[in-house]
Amino acid sequence: MLRIAVQPFAKGVAAQTLLRQSTKVAASSRVLPQLAAPFSTSSSVAENKKRADRVPHIDQKITAEYPNMSGPQHTTGPEFYTGDEGVHGLRTLKSFSMVGKVCVVTGGARGLGNLMGRALVESGCNQLAILDLDKDDSQGAADEMVKWLEGTGGVEPGSLDIRGFACDVSREDSVAKAFNDVKAAFGKIHAVINSAGIVENFPALEYPTDRLLKLYGINVFGSHFVSREAAKHMIADDIPGSIILVASMSGSIVNVPQPQAPYNASKAAVKHLGACLAVEWAQYGIRVNTLSPGYMLTSLTQQMFDRNADGRELKSKWENLIPMGKMGTPDDLKGAAVFLASDASRYSTGSDLIVDGGYTAV
Ligand SMILES: NC(=O)c1ccc[n+]([C@@H]2O[C@H](COP(=O)([O-])OP(=O)(O)OC[C@H]3O[C@@H](n4cnc5c(N)ncnc54)[C@H](O)[C@@H]3O)[C@@H](O)[C@H]2O)c1
Repeated sequence: MLRIAVQPFAKGVAAQTLLRQSTKVAASSRVLPQLAAPFSTSSSVAENKKRADRVPHIDQKITAEYPNMSGPQHTTGPEFYTGDEGVHGLRTLKSFSMVGKVCVVTGGARGLGNLMGRALVESGCNQLAILDLDKDDSQGAADEMVKWLEGTGGVEPGSLDIRGFACDVSREDSVAKAFNDVKAAFGKIHAVINSAGIVENFPALEYPTDRLLKLYGINVFGSHFVSREAAKHMIADDIPGSIILVASMSGSIVNVPQPQAPYNASKAAVKHLGACLAVEWAQYGIRVNTLSPGYMLTSLTQQMFDRNADGRELKSKWENLIPMGKMGTPDDLKGAAVFLASDASRYSTGSDLIVDGGYTAV
């Protein structure tokens, strides 16, 4: 099939590039033979497990990646952990610290938004605003987060100021009010993660129009409204802030077998919106990046898989397509979220950080 695609470019650089790509795909097909028949699931659970077991543990990864570091010529000097950042006691790059930053996370009452909000606090942020549809849910999540973090013994009791706010990201007035309230409460805004988003699956031929409008209203317009309000405050306060829009690998690939064309298109729109805003707002020192998770095993998806045989089969089909052989856990997003929110990514803007176990690479 790939050879047919190469035919029209039989001469020149384009042909060579495509040939290189086809060789790469063929090579990866050899490594992952099940990709050739992605939906034959009988032996795939064992094969997926074998691949997942080969994924190096974090300690192995660090020793494997660091032996050839040749010195400090490309750095401004060591940025060692100094003992006052975050809840952990490991030496780490200071630029990853969120100490002194006011952060906002939308869709933060649960799911990935909640997890990424926690990660910011774990990395030193003491002032976090959780925005979600229902004020009580947001405040409940805020209270629970404080309890959880104080319970670890890593933060001084009373040092965290985490508050919940009501916000419907699909409504411009609601987003403007929520950001004004956050500003009034905390005085400034340094980093915003827009995680509010929904997914619904209907075949495209039957997709109800009211559901389409709702999905685009939250995923696409919501991303615009949240970015815009965040940027207005950052510009007014002369803060070189960071805005992170949660997109998805679905903005780069077409998921199979579930029909979700509008969701995928909405996430492609979020990615490009992020890049465009990054270019417009670079002059203000504001960075805009997108974070694209792959298949994440949340408690909701786990329940779906556990409760019915179709769910288990679907999980197996998805894992067949992931080079690392397993779905991600929400924890796998922590580092990416902190990287994009912190000064560690100070020269990254307009980029899309994909965290998908290699799904989009094949
Ligand atoms: N879970 C995954 O595997 C996965 C993969 C790729 C991308 N994503 C993206 O990550 C984001 C979070 O997904 P999740 O799995 O945590 O979902 P989730 O349903 O667990 O959480 C979403 C949160 O957003 C809130 N929300 C929904 N509509 C809102 C609105 N109009 N205004 C404000 N808040 C609203 C919900 O109340 C909820 O708290 C979404 O943008 C999703 O598309 C998720």
